[in-house]
Amino acid sequence: MEILISEAMTGQALDRLRESFAVAYEPDLWRDPVGLRERLASGVRALIVRNQTRVTRELLAVADRLEVIGRAGVGLENIDLTAASERGIVVAWTPEQNANSVAELTVGLILALARHIPAADRDTRAGNWNRQQFTGIEILGKTLGVIGLGRIGAATAAKARALGMEIVAYDPLLDTDSLRALELRARIVPLEELLAVSDVVTCHLPATPATIGLLDAARLSLLKPTAYLINTSRGTVLDEGALVELLARGAIAGAALDVRAEEPPAPSPLTALDNVILLPHIAAFTTEGQRRVVTSICRDVAAVLRGEPARFFANFPLPRR
Ligand code: MLT
Repeated sequence: MEILISEAMTGQALDRLRESFAVAYEPDLWRDPVGLRERLASGVRALIVRNQTRVTRELLAVADRLEVIGRAGVGLENIDLTAASERGIVVAWTPEQNANSVAELTVGLILALARHIPAADRDTRAGNWNRQQFTGIEILGKTLGVIGLGRIGAATAAKARALGMEIVAYDPLLDTDSLRALELRARIVPLEELLAVSDVVTCHLPATPATIGLLDAARLSLLKPTAYLINTSRGTVLDEGALVELLARGAIAGAALDVRAEEPPAPSPLTALDNVILLPHIAAFTTEGQRRVVTSICRDVAAVLRGEPARFFANFPLPRR
């Protein structure tokens, strides 16, 4: 076997990959670290994953023939990039292919929260007709705070701007006069200011040592009592316990979480709260987004196996021994 796929994915690009390479498709292998280790030790040249396969230094140590890891998605927290680089393994990824899908879901969540759409749906299904109870707010003229103005944050800001929202953004990688911020007419502000002034806050952060726990209890307490918080990035960037506490006592208006610190999550008090929308990490899951992701990762993995450069690579591998 030349290529091992350890998580679920579909698409014509996979069929095309099978025409040129021996592909083993084992969508549940990520749950079985021992089995994964055995397969990699048997001479696999490429491993294609999403975000659930833990590609650790220890795992890579047995993967003597591994040339490329394809990450079908944008988050890289499940892959030891340093270890891969040291072993001369290319990490190909899809940094922009699902950005629009995530941004569209985020806009959907802004509107769902502002107009209480899921709660009103639940109530109406229960036989009620409570119109006053579900009076919402318009988002026109409201301030969206975007934490992380990368590709997804910027795409979200552009769509929100088109709906008439004002944009403030926090991004330690951007200067206040960065082109991206200027084009979006986004005001770059300190995180604390963003939290204090925004009507809706949306997180678009990778999980890194600098971002894990960034939205801790102290920072979350800066949110306005009328504010909504959305996270479609990584669950670990916020303190879920502190958020539960704020939501339960009405210290913020509501939240929408597509991602959780632990996935799938353990039972949580969040499920009992009416002012929260919970989704199973589906922001990137659209037909179009997934087609782009799978096509791109298959093309780049095939390129590396043929000795050509990947178009989208996330590391700088050292020359192979
Ligand atoms: C991503 O990182 O691309 C998305 O969160 C979806 C995924 O992890 O597969």
